[in-house]
Amino acid sequence: MNILLIGNGGREHALAWKMKQSPLCQNLFIAPGNGGTASVGNNVSIAVDDFEKIGAFCSENKIELVVIGPEVPLVKGLRDYLGIINPSLLIVGPGKTGAQLEGSKDFSKQFMLRHGIPTAKARIFSSAELNESLLYVEKLSAPIVLKADGLAAGKGVVIAQSQEEAKQTLTEMLAEKKFGEAGAKVLIEEFLDGIELSVFVLTDGKDYVILPEAKDYKRIGDNDTGPNTGGMGSVSPVAFADDAFMKKIEAEIIKPTIEGLSKEKIEYKGFIFFGLIKVKNEPLVIEYNARMGDPETQSVMMRLQTDLVELLVATAKGELKEKSITINPDYAVTVCMVAGGYPGNYDKGKTILGLVASGQKPEARSSVFHAGTKISSNQILTDGGRVLAVTAMGKTLEQARANAYTTVSQLHWDGVYFRKDIGLDLLRMTNLSNDE
Ligand code: AMP
Ligand code: GLY
Repeated sequence: MNILLIGNGGREHALAWKMKQSPLCQNLFIAPGNGGTASVGNNVSIAVDDFEKIGAFCSENKIELVVIGPEVPLVKGLRDYLGIINPSLLIVGPGKTGAQLEGSKDFSKQFMLRHGIPTAKARIFSSAELNESLLYVEKLSAPIVLKADGLAAGKGVVIAQSQEEAKQTLTEMLAEKKFGEAGAKVLIEEFLDGIELSVFVLTDGKDYVILPEAKDYKRIGDNDTGPNTGGMGSVSPVAFADDAFMKKIEAEIIKPTIEGLSKEKIEYKGFIFFGLIKVKNEPLVIEYNARMGDPETQSVMMRLQTDLVELLVATAKGELKEKSITINPDYAVTVCMVAGGYPGNYDKGKTILGLVASGQKPEARSSVFHAGTKISSNQILTDGGRVLAVTAMGKTLEQARANAYTTVSQLHWDGVYFRKDIGLDLLRMTNLSNDE
């Protein structure tokens, strides 16, 4: 079949790489794609939110399946638009209403409360309630969690370390509109102290399959220091998410979420990414996303053995009940290589060295996924903050880490930066529990 994948990140390169392995995949197009997706399919120069051009491309190229990677076109309603112009098109990704699980923190918090899904306590304040919000903060002790309601490219959450900082942030968000309309409402949330993990499902709105879980490393610096980023690395599986804990997540979070969507008649065919935190052996939801995570997808796709296109088609057709998935029990570790300066200002257009040597190394069991690259005069240049995501497999976490960092060491450009400690915390945790 002819498939169109929307997006241009490391997540999309990993999804494209996995889809291309399916015998069902004839022609794969990626809009707009990047330097890496060009090696597995055909890049099409259309922006992710140019609905009309995407619609026209689907008709002209007899596209049968559309997979929407990033949140922006989902929240803007790409699924609804494509469904109206071609009702027989198979589409993976929720409509505008379902995507509110990610697009509005107010919506998702109310949804969780309605369905008894464990999450942090929160209060919501609008721009007109700035004074009330400042008074409310005086009753709280730090750290205080502040969340802009709408999409803010991962920058809408501030963990204030004092009442003063919280007040300043509230003023910036509510009065000065630092995040534009996304910050017109702000959630003030209870701080949860625990360890985070990401759990993913593919659902057709009734049934679901649970994909491998992963841990993401959000801060720029080793030992979780410095500002937040889109994600600097990932590991799967996550040892502390044992069978009993995953069963708990399924019973208390996944099932009530899918049943909640169905009860509220919100049609949902796509991925749900549960951003969870484990506090005293209890899972709570920190956030929902209406898509896969980046760079979790890279680790997840390396472990998934089932044909991805088969799963996506079943999702879009509402036939997931008949599907189960097979997962490689080995470890996957992903290390993101970023441009110097990221997540602040950074340069683009640097030549990446070592790609050919490190590209296909079956013995190292590693893949180099492109996140922000472009091809120019037959050279691959940096074209974003997160540039490459190197994913490697190993029988143990130690081995997977070693394989990933071996490949990382063969790649270079001017100003390159990466974290050296991806997976180390989980390794220490496992070693500690083995010593007990
Ligand atoms: P979000 O965009 O909601 O995922 O938040 C970004 C990050 O902020 C999360 O990955 C957590 O590390 C942190 N965070 C969000 N909400 C809370 C909370 N209630 N308590 C502690 N940390 C939080
Ligand atoms: N890695 C976190 C995200 O994709 O939102």
